[in-house]
Amino acid sequence: MAAKGCKTIGVLTSGGDAPGMNAAIRAVVRTAIHEGMKVKGIMRGYAGLLEEEIVDMDTTSVSDIISRGGTILYTARCAEFVTEEGQKRGAEICRKNGIDGIVIIGGDGSFRGAGKLSALGINCVGVPGTIDLDIACTDYTIGFDTAVNTAMEAIDKIRDTSTSHERCSIIEVMGRRAGYIALWCAIANGAEEVLLPERYDGDEQAIINRIIESRKHGKKHYIIINAEGVGQSQSMAQRIEAATGIETRATILGHMQRGGSPTATDRYYASLMGARAAEILRDGGSNRVVAHNHGQIVDYDIREALAMKKDIPEDAFRIAQLLVR
Ligand code: ADP
Ligand code: F6P
Repeated sequence: MAAKGCKTIGVLTSGGDAPGMNAAIRAVVRTAIHEGMKVKGIMRGYAGLLEEEIVDMDTTSVSDIISRGGTILYTARCAEFVTEEGQKRGAEICRKNGIDGIVIIGGDGSFRGAGKLSALGINCVGVPGTIDLDIACTDYTIGFDTAVNTAMEAIDKIRDTSTSHERCSIIEVMGRRAGYIALWCAIANGAEEVLLPERYDGDEQAIINRIIESRKHGKKHYIIINAEGVGQSQSMAQRIEAATGIETRATILGHMQRGGSPTATDRYYASLMGARAAEILRDGGSNRVVAHNHGQIVDYDIREALAMKKDIPEDAFRIAQLLVR
């Protein structure tokens, strides 16, 4: 079938990697080829574009990757692409390689770059890929579900040892400036306390009082999920131990949350979103971001998407706290 819009598209992953990115790449490549377009893989995000690390892809290039974490195209952060000269050079390199559209799998920063490239005449479509869930236009981002499940399993394990030793445990989860991973873990792990950058007022004395109170009522452990955006887990543990007399340990889960085989949810939505992005380019669309809202795959203008705001769900935050009191 002849393509109405783009003839040759590129696909790249940018920013922090996320489990499910490979499923999205696979869907982009196979949908585009099905729709009569050629596909080129751009390695290492915008950095690879500027270095012209561009490879031809066919349906077999994406065989056996749906279950793999990470991204077969590698990813990077690229300061040069934030400059106007970098973006112009990127557009020139696209033209030189016959690329008239690109699917960009990444977060808000990557979409800003996609918006700039669209304005320079390269049709761009963003697909939300980040474990942080911090993209306002969508209620799902690729990798979040896997990351939450990975963190949840780790926290369950810490809870076992925390109970045995009758300790307090502070577990720091990723999320950059957003508290979604922390909130989900707080509910899924039944944590006594959750500290979110969007809500935490810094009142450590109140936490200390609640720990002492819960110990009086016979609780054997005290699990505090602390979001990366609040941070300070190690020093907080020292202060809590000094104030309560209860042994307190901090664990920073770190990059393990970004790895591993994606869950079915991440494979499923990454596949639908990647396919939709390729279809938008087939139809000549540009400057769009694919999103998931109320059970539907939709798409928005990049500028509108970047102007949207979202906050953690107040009801979930309230319930996270009441279920452990
Ligand atoms: P994420 O996409 O996960 O939000 P970053 O914020 O690190 O991750 O952005 C990824 C890359 O996108 C950056 O390294 C840079 O190359 C590009 N980028 C970010 N902001 C802009 C911008 N304002 N203009 C152009 N490119 C940008
Ligand atoms: O955006 C994903 C993320 O893992 C954040 O949660 C975290 O703040 C950041 O990336 C870590 O980045 P890096 O891999 O560069 O340390």
